[in-house]
Amino acid sequence: MRIVLLGCPGVGKGTQAKLIALRKGVRQIATGDILRQEVEQGTELGLLAQEYMDRGDLVPDEIIINMMQTHLQAADEVGGFLLDGFPRTVEQARALDQYLVSTGKSLDHVIALSAPGEVVVHRLSGRLTCNNCGATYHETNRQPRNFGTCDVCGGRLQIRSDDDPEAVRTRLQVYAERSAPLLDYYRSQGLLRDVDASGEVEEVYALIEKVLDS
Ligand code: AP5
Repeated sequence: MRIVLLGCPGVGKGTQAKLIALRKGVRQIATGDILRQEVEQGTELGLLAQEYMDRGDLVPDEIIINMMQTHLQAADEVGGFLLDGFPRTVEQARALDQYLVSTGKSLDHVIALSAPGEVVVHRLSGRLTCNNCGATYHETNRQPRNFGTCDVCGGRLQIRSDDDPEAVRTRLQVYAERSAPLLDYYRSQGLLRDVDASGEVEEVYALIEKVLDS
């Protein structure tokens, strides 16, 4: 199965992607997680990406497209992928199309998650992320069992550096300008399915599952 999950920062892409990957056995490729790992390891790519990420801007297309090539190939060898955070510009979507054409494959689902602005800002402003496995929690919506500790791996929970109010504003603006055009890109190909992501995590998952099973 090959799935693309679209939606603005904080709408719940990562949360849903992890559930889909776990329950449907599809490999999740989360560009944000990959980039944060590169930053953590201090690689050349990480150093380059960090300044863009910290201010809430997009990392340049050519860097992302190069980075994704090997991840897409590796996932395709084990049955497909679930893309969380890619593509994020029309340029990236065209590169993905080229990859698919060159491998004789196609996308099965493109799902666009949406929720009102105030819901998204609330989700981002209370998010806690595990510094070890990347699992996400929320100060009020999804609390961990033990304060400050990840339920999954016991790692330390922290606030992401790009979740400060100024970077959040930039990320939402960048989404509106550079990523929202992707909705029309996939709608015009007849691939896009809209899902209301404003409900509880399991409610949203049930809506996504209906699309995946259709
Ligand atoms: P990335 O990590 O992809 O960030 P993002 O797109 O801004 O998305 P988020 O991770 O903030 O939100 P999400 O939708 O995954 O929400 P989540 O599930 O965590 O990218 C970070 C940066 O990397 C970018 O800004 C850019 O610089 C760079 N980058 C990445 N990909 C790139 C690309 N392709 N091109 C260029 N640059 C790229 O949920 C948020 C919170 O809400 C959590 O606390 C969660 O517990 C809670 N929550 C989730 N769902 C619900 C629900 N249904 N009800 C209640 N609470 C919920």
